[in-house]
Parts: sequence; C-alpha cells; structure tokens
Amino acid sequence: MSTIEAIAENYQTFNPAAYLQNNYIPPLADFSDPDSVVAWKLKCLADACASGEIGGQILVDIDSGPTVYQVLSAFELFKEVILTDFLAVNREELKKWLHDEPGAFDWGPSINQVCSIEGKGEPWQAKQKRLRERVSRVIPVNVHQSCPLGTELAPVTVDALVSSFCLEACSPNYPAFVKALGNITGLLKPGGHVLMIGALEESYYMAGEARLSAVSLTEEMTRKAYDVGYIIRDFRSYTLPESMTVDTDDAKGVSFVWAQKKESD
Ligand SMILES: C[S@@+](CC[C@H](N)C(=O)[O-])C[C@H]1O[C@@H](n2cnc3c(N)ncnc32)[C@H](O)[C@@H]1O
Repeated sequence: MSTIEAIAENYQTFNPAAYLQNNYIPPLADFSDPDSVVAWKLKCLADACASGEIGGQILVDIDSGPTVYQVLSAFELFKEVILTDFLAVNREELKKWLHDEPGAFDWGPSINQVCSIEGKGEPWQAKQKRLRERVSRVIPVNVHQSCPLGTELAPVTVDALVSSFCLEACSPNYPAFVKALGNITGLLKPGGHVLMIGALEESYYMAGEARLSAVSLTEEMTRKAYDVGYIIRDFRSYTLPESMTVDTDDAKGVSFVWAQKKESD
C-alpha cells in the first residue's frame, strides 16, 4: 500500500514535456473531432463560467501541473489568478509559457477553442495576452497539508478554485483524497466555487519514466466527496471512446464537478 511520502518521492521523476505530449496534443486535443476529451473539458468549464454566478478577486488553480487550459474561461472573471504546483519542474514549465520563452508548450489551439465556445469573435492571441497579464504568482502547493499554500495564502481568502486531475493523482487512497479536498476547501470563502475535473476509474498514468498511481474513483465516489461542506451545482461525466484511449494511462472516463461551498455547515 502506498503512502503520501512514497507518492511524493515517485513524483520526483515526473516529466512535464512527456506529460504534455501524452495528453494535450491530437488525438486527445484534436478540436475537429467532436469526441475530443480536451474539448469536452473546456466546454464544461466554459458553461459554468458563462452562468454569471462565478467571479471575484482571487482565483487559485490548485496543482496546475504544466498546463493552463483549465483556467482559460475562469481567469476572465477574477482580478488575480494564482497558479500552483507541487513540483518545481512544473512551475518552471508554467513560467516558460507565461514569459513566452522558446520551447514553451503551444496552448494556442486550446485558447482558440475556448474563444470559439465563448463566441465573441475574439482572436485567441488577445485572450492569451490577457491570461499572461492576469497571473500574479506561480507558487508551491501541497494538498496534503492543512494549509496547502503555506504562508502564501491564508485560509478563507480565495473566491474560487479550479483543479484538474490533482487529488486522485497524488492521494494513496479514498480517505486521503477526501481529506485533501477538505484541505483545499479551507482556502475558500463561504459561497466560493470549485471547478474540478478528475479521472474516473484510473489506476495509473505515465509522465515519461514516471508511473504515477491514482485513486480509482467512480462517479458516485466523486460526488460523495462533496457531501461535506458543498452544494453540487453541476456534475457531468464523459466516457472515453476508443479513439480517446491512450497507452499512457488506464482512465475510463472524466468527471466535471461545479460545487459551491456552503455559507455555513
Ligand atoms: C495529473 S497531473 C495534473 C496536471 C494538470 N492539472 C492537468 O490538468 O493536466 C498531477 C499533478 O499532481 C501534482 N502533485 C503531486 N503531489 C502533489 C501534492 N502533494 N499536492 C499537490 N499537487 C501534487 C504533480 O506535481 C502533478 O502536477
């Protein structure tokens, strides 16, 4: 049986470039394919953000990894966006993109896709520039600590959280997953929103040499984790068709949760 410490050790071989190639280029991010899993995720996030109910001062993306697709709709609704990751290599990858350095991953196709969902006729380059300006910090996070952002951000100071494929990918078991959700919930103001994307029935994924184990979650387990402290505002699931299955993970699907922290419990 794995432990939080063994998982942290295993993450030291996580390869951001390999992870990006495995998950964020075609076929998974082929936006001409109506089955594209990345397109599905972007649509879920865009729909929640178009509700007019989400917004405020601070948005925190818990465990950005080397990716920014997960904030492409939400960042527009907040004055300040904070990206976070457990690993320095991922924080460096994010900074490379933020500073438009050579070798940075090309998020243009994903940004273009979000512009087309939002339907304002805006060139994707304008959104990209705005996001780069809106990110104020890229900081470390550990979801297994009661204060996941340490001294950088105190509890109950955040208006909304985004998180994608984090908690199940760094927890040894379901109780640890639920506890980690509780830890990040502590950052949120009452009434604040969470937009969470997660893997369904995944036991491992690859990122280069690293083989990371995941807590295998059903839809029911995913929903149940929000019983304490949240109202679920939207829940969606996506079953991976054969065209979207890859040999670098064994996920069967993806979940999307939009939840709102209760004013009081
Ligand atoms: C599957 S990646 C998710 C990346 C990205 N959010 C996405 O949507 O593709 C899992 C991430 O978990 C992070 N991680 C590992 N241990 C962690 C911990 N204790 N606290 C927070 N994040 C952790 C890793 O650094 C890695 O970026």
